[in-house]
Amino acid sequence: MNKIIKGDVLDVLKTLEPNSIDLGITSPPYNKGKKGGPIVKSVVYDKFDDNLPEEIYQEQQIEVLNELYRVIKPGGSFFYNHRCRWDDGELIHPMEWLTKTNWMPKQEIIWDRFISGQLRGWRFWQIDERIYWLYKPTEDDRVGKELKSKHAQFSSIWSFQPEMNNPHPAPFPLVLPLRIILSLFDESKGTVIDPYIGSGTTAVACKLLGCDYIGIDLSDEYIKMAEDRIGNYEEEKKFLEEEIKLHKIKGKSYQDRKQKKLRVIENEKQWEKFGIK
Ligand SMILES: C[S@@+](CC[C@H](N)C(=O)[O-])C[C@H]1O[C@@H](n2cnc3c(N)ncnc32)[C@H](O)[C@@H]1O
Repeated sequence: MNKIIKGDVLDVLKTLEPNSIDLGITSPPYNKGKKGGPIVKSVVYDKFDDNLPEEIYQEQQIEVLNELYRVIKPGGSFFYNHRCRWDDGELIHPMEWLTKTNWMPKQEIIWDRFISGQLRGWRFWQIDERIYWLYKPTEDDRVGKELKSKHAQFSSIWSFQPEMNNPHPAPFPLVLPLRIILSLFDESKGTVIDPYIGSGTTAVACKLLGCDYIGIDLSDEYIKMAEDRIGNYEEEKKFLEEEIKLHKIKGKSYQDRKQKKLRVIENEKQWEKFGIK
């Protein structure tokens, strides 16, 4: 608990207890290889080449996701950040392998990365990534707990920029795990796993919110980056303060509106009793 384990994701996940973790958040390597086409840069990682035959990549992702399903508690969730890719003109959509896992896909969130457009392209400039909310149902609950209105008011399109000030080659911004943990846990605490933790963004979000974390990564260089960040997590507090400001109801919540409607119906019934419509 509260450490980053060095090793291959599958080997490490297999050592963890079943049904022991509340929530997971990750962005795996995307197997981009040369799939970005001539105008999108490939990501160059320490320790591995992000260029597997697509079939093998998808098989590995299914195995990792099923191992995560085993370690997450029933009623728990996993948030999986990925994107649409193209290989020789053919679209590769993450749902192709997500539907082959044990998880119930609960929602597809579009992450509008708010980046400016290119002047060249063979399709419209891709500014989005996806965040899949995957759910592990219990015997009597296939839907999961209701979110508080202040969190459910966010739409399924999230707009914020990618991380720009991080030496890791493919970090996500801190707001991404902060929004997820704040919305799911509200004021409670729990344990969060990030099986491809890179520069430790998910762990920093956990520290800021008083939660426990477990991270996994292959690279000593990225683990060192993550540990340095975790040691100085308070320096990133302003991102939490900004995010908390957004988790506020503007206007009336659904519950308030429902209560008001019930009161109106009740009043109408009273008037009818007296023959007044
Ligand atoms: C997209 S990055 C994650 C970045 C992270 N979200 C952040 O904000 O810094 C993917 C990470 O997975 C790690 N990785 C790739 N293959 C792995 C494997 N088989 N086992 C463990 N970690 C792996 C890479 O070293 C890289 O840091």
